Amino acid sequence: MTTPAESSLLEPIIDDLASQGWSHQRLVLSAELTAALAAECRARAAAGSLAAASVGRGEGQQVREGIRGDRIHWLEPGQSAASDAYLALMDALRQQLNRELYLGLEDFECHFALYPPGAFYQKHLDRFRDNDRRAVSVVAYLNADWQPEQGGALRLHLADGEHDVQPEGGSLVVFLSAELPHEVLPASRERLSLAGWFRRRGSGSI
Ligand code: OGA
Ligand code: MN
Repeated sequence: MTTPAESSLLEPIIDDLASQGWSHQRLVLSAELTAALAAECRARAAAGSLAAASVGRGEGQQVREGIRGDRIHWLEPGQSAASDAYLALMDALRQQLNRELYLGLEDFECHFALYPPGAFYQKHLDRFRDNDRRAVSVVAYLNADWQPEQGGALRLHLADGEHDVQPEGGSLVVFLSAELPHEVLPASRERLSLAGWFRRRGSGSI
């Protein structure tokens, strides 16, 4: 599995994060890697190994489809060549963020997400109220031939208004987890993504 991990591809992300706190890049993942990740996500769904996503943490954790309707699978190193290639790319991005922006990102957690037609994720921040480890969010999209009229945009609620990102295969959105409210709009077709978070060292709250 080839990884397009050249630092030249990741450099614009660093620049955007530093200047505006978010970045949208198309064609970051190769078509081959995007297709392999999409196939893996679908195979896991067909095998019944995606779980309903929950909101909240610890005792407050619960499944609430009125807030988010996706089904997920957390990535583990070694589960597949495609997943490992993606995790390697994310580690290259993590190191570059640390080198150039001194973010002190320690690790990365990430899950496949499958939104069935009509599913959505209401406006939210990616940082939990009682835990501030999540610092930078990364969403990669795995949908071939996405058309805007199919819905499913990631809507970013920026200081100067809304900005919709189409979940086009191979594209990547990166943003500061604590600062950018966002939501997933319902789509007329199945929508696949990889949602992940670079985390800082724990502050002792776990
Ligand atoms: C999330 C999320 C966005 C997307 O999982 O927290 O905001 O576009 N996902 O899938
Ligand atoms: Mn989110």
